[in-house]
Amino acid sequence: MTAATKSFISGNEVTAQQIIELFELSEQIKLKPEYFQYALRGKHIAMMFEKPSLRTKASFQVGIEKLGGQAHFYDMQSQPIGARESLKDICMNLSQWYDAIVARVNCHSTLQKMSAITETPIVNALCDKFHPCQALADLFTLYEIDTDFSHWHIAYFGFANNVTRSLIQIAHELGVKLSVVCHSEASFSQKEMALWQQSSAGKIQFLNDPDDLISCDVIYTDVWQSMGQQQLSESLKQSLQKFQVNRKVMAASGAKFFMHCQPVHRGEEVCATVCDSNYSIMYQQSRNRMITQQALVYSLFSGKLL
Ligand code: NVA
Repeated sequence: MTAATKSFISGNEVTAQQIIELFELSEQIKLKPEYFQYALRGKHIAMMFEKPSLRTKASFQVGIEKLGGQAHFYDMQSQPIGARESLKDICMNLSQWYDAIVARVNCHSTLQKMSAITETPIVNALCDKFHPCQALADLFTLYEIDTDFSHWHIAYFGFANNVTRSLIQIAHELGVKLSVVCHSEASFSQKEMALWQQSSAGKIQFLNDPDDLISCDVIYTDVWQSMGQQQLSESLKQSLQKFQVNRKVMAASGAKFFMHCQPVHRGEEVCATVCDSNYSIMYQQSRNRMITQQALVYSLFSGKLL
C-alpha cells in the first residue's frame, strides 16, 4: 500500500462500500463505546492546525482519547509552516513519533505534499477545497434517520465552498440526490459543475435561483465567508440574502431537516427561527463528527479502510 492510499485527504479515497462499513462501525461505536475503549491503545496522533477550530479539534481529541489513544495539538497559526522549518522536516520529524497526522491547512496542496513526504497516514481536518470528515458525519446523520440513501434529496444553499464540495463528493458516492442552490458569483466553475452533472447522471444539479428548487428533504447551508477567503463585497452579501435559509424557504421546499456544519452566523446564511428550531439537526451532526472520525481513525489502523 502506498503512502497516498493510506491518507484521507480529498474524500475520494473511499468507495461507497467502505463508507457504509464506516457507518456500520460508527453505529457500533455509538451503541457500545465500552467495546472500543482500547481500540487505539498505544497510538499517538499529531494534530497540526493552520486555521482556527472548535468542533474538529475537540471531536478528534476527545474521540481519540475515548478509544484509548492520545492526540497532541500543534497550533500552526502561531508557528506557520515553513517559517521555522520546512514542511518536509515537520512531517519527517512528526512521523518518527506519531502514528497518524490530522491536519487543517490553508492549501490542499500542503496535504498532498505531506502524503508524498511521509508514509504516516494524513487525515484532512479541513482545507481550502475539502472538508471530508464533515461530509462523513453529515451523511451518517442522515443514515441514522433512513439508511436508504436513494430516499434523500439534499439542497445546499448559499455559497459553494469546501464543505459543499465534500458533501457533493460523499453524497455522489452514495447515490444521494443533491441540488446546489448558490448565487452565480458564489458557485463552482462551469467546468467543475459540468463534471459533477455528467458523472452523477443528473443526480447532482446546480441552480442559481432558490425559486427553481421544487422540493427537497434537507436544506444544508454554511457560512458565506470561509476562513482565509477573500472579503465578500457588500453587493454580493446583499445578493446572497436571497439564499438565506428561513422558515419560508423551509416551508416552500417541504424540507423536514436543516443542516449546518457550524459555526453559524444567525441572521446571515440562516435565521435563528430555523437553526434553533425542531428542523435543525446541526448538533447531531456535530456529535457525529466525533463518532465517524473515531471510526475513520480506528479503520486506518485496523486495515479495514484505506
Ligand atoms: N466553510 C467553512 C467551514 C468551517 C467549518 C470554512 O472553511 O471556514
